[in-house]
Amino acid sequence: MTYLASNKPITMPELGRMKHDGQKIAMLTGYDASFAALEDRCGVDVILVGDSLGMCVYGYEGTIPVTMDQCIVHCQAVRRGAPNTFVMGDMPFMSYQKSDEDAVANAGRFLKEAMVDAIKLEGGRRVITRIRAILDAGMVVCGHIGLTPQSSGQLGGHKAQGRTAESAQALIEDALAIEEAGAQLLLLEAVPPEVAGFITRRLAIPVYSIGAGPDCDGQLLIVSDMIGQFQAFTPKFVKKYADVAGVVTAAMKAYVQDVKKGAFPADEHCYHMLEGEKQKWQALTQKYAK
Ligand code: KIV
Repeated sequence: MTYLASNKPITMPELGRMKHDGQKIAMLTGYDASFAALEDRCGVDVILVGDSLGMCVYGYEGTIPVTMDQCIVHCQAVRRGAPNTFVMGDMPFMSYQKSDEDAVANAGRFLKEAMVDAIKLEGGRRVITRIRAILDAGMVVCGHIGLTPQSSGQLGGHKAQGRTAESAQALIEDALAIEEAGAQLLLLEAVPPEVAGFITRRLAIPVYSIGAGPDCDGQLLIVSDMIGQFQAFTPKFVKKYADVAGVVTAAMKAYVQDVKKGAFPADEHCYHMLEGEKQKWQALTQKYAK
């Protein structure tokens, strides 16, 4: 199947130019080709194939069980659906924690097997050698600090970060280290707007927000949250733009009722015998009648 793609490829320099010109960028997560195609057509600038696919697609409680192979398969699908959109692959837990070599090998898989434009990994100063190693291999890197779900155990749960001066300082130090290492993008998750705004203005690289207020260079939401599909929980920072679960539930209930009462399929949903075959068909039914 081919999807109707926009013909406006978004590149890394373009994202830098948008920051420079004060043009906000719109990011969404995406996990499959059909949604990626819709996102592309709706003007989404960047699609993150997040490890949130663990909850949104696979029904895990969190992101920890997500594997490299799962991430690659979903990045490939998104790439097929949105060939011109800037696609970012998300490094899952234990794909970069062990060593710089591991990090480079796994980051490389995202490019070689799924042709993503950038890869994202969680953590600040403690993953700085990983970021440098991936950059040295020629890839585009997006840092991710604030609430980092893969280390939420250490953070005491899925909690906003940077709400005290001390913790805000740690975020600023992490952001500066990530930029200094050479990363081209930064994502801030669940951080007070005053801290996120300061970091955005302080850094030359584009800084994006998920739950970090309006002053960043762009916004990210998890697509399953913003369309009202994911039901298990909804973070405070989510704005729901649709009630897909409601629409789908109504449609499924109507289908079940139609099937039960024999109202589906109707004649227009059937393939009838071809004209001129009726006589032969009648002869057949006689031949095989009990
Ligand atoms: O996996 C994901 O979608 C993410 C966002 C929550 C930032 O990493």
